Amino acid sequence: MNIDNQLVVINTPKNKYLSVVENNKEFITNEGKFKFSDIQKIPSIITTSTGIDFQIYSPTYKEFVLLMKRGPQIIYPKDVGQIIVESNLHNSSKILEIGSGSGALTLYLYSLLKNTGKLYTLDSSKTNQRRANKTITRYLSTYSSDTVDVTFINEELSKFNFESIDENIDAIITDVPEPWEFFINNKIQNNINWVSYLPSMSQIMRFNETLGKNNFQDIEIKEVILRDWIVDEKVVRPTNKLVSHTGFLISAKYIKY
Ligand SMILES: C[S@@+](CC[C@H](N)C(=O)[O-])C[C@H]1O[C@@H](n2cnc3c(N)ncnc32)[C@H](O)[C@@H]1O
Repeated sequence: MNIDNQLVVINTPKNKYLSVVENNKEFITNEGKFKFSDIQKIPSIITTSTGIDFQIYSPTYKEFVLLMKRGPQIIYPKDVGQIIVESNLHNSSKILEIGSGSGALTLYLYSLLKNTGKLYTLDSSKTNQRRANKTITRYLSTYSSDTVDVTFINEELSKFNFESIDENIDAIITDVPEPWEFFINNKIQNNINWVSYLPSMSQIMRFNETLGKNNFQDIEIKEVILRDWIVDEKVVRPTNKLVSHTGFLISAKYIKY
């Protein structure tokens, strides 16, 4: 099995690292070092120069997006889960994502799709779209040799013409500061589930008004608060750390009667 160039997590007693296997290189940390060429298969446990064992395995989605190099701030996995439910996604969904950014959400959306599913992702920054493309290609190449089929739309939201997409989109998901710009040139006329991720309540208030004016219904505003717990023989309690705020979600649907 050729594992050269594979994406791996290196889990040491003190840290987790995301790395790529490079057969002619060493992986060096304060806890010890090893040669990538010593890895026979993935997963493996490698004993380092200091006698400490490192676990080497393929990253989960959560490990990958939390450990990867980022451009813009990503949507955290806890919010990704809720976004998928609120936008009512299934494997044949036609999705328009607005704000590709680092591609953390793009990757999850894409990996859900099969059959006739299709993903369009819009961003005004070419640099960020290149990063998003790298994020999905890098992660998915660990699991499949299929080429990634995402349509990147490089455009300012305020100039975007929704009709340029030659397909009936059924979910729109945004992570841009001003999602109301969509409605400068566009009207929704088909059944659509809309979800916007926004860090501040002032943005939510403005967009709540926009959705109402554009005849969306079932507008819901929520925040996902997640608490990890420690459970072992002596201690059963929430961990000390809590990500106190990431963003709010506003979701709604447009129904064409
Ligand atoms: C916070 S990032 C998105 C992060 C992404 N959701 C992720 O999980 O990796 C926001 C992105 O929206 C883009 N953006 C912001 N305002 C925009 C606009 N008016 N039109 C198009 N793209 C915009 C930025 O270039 C940036 O890449």
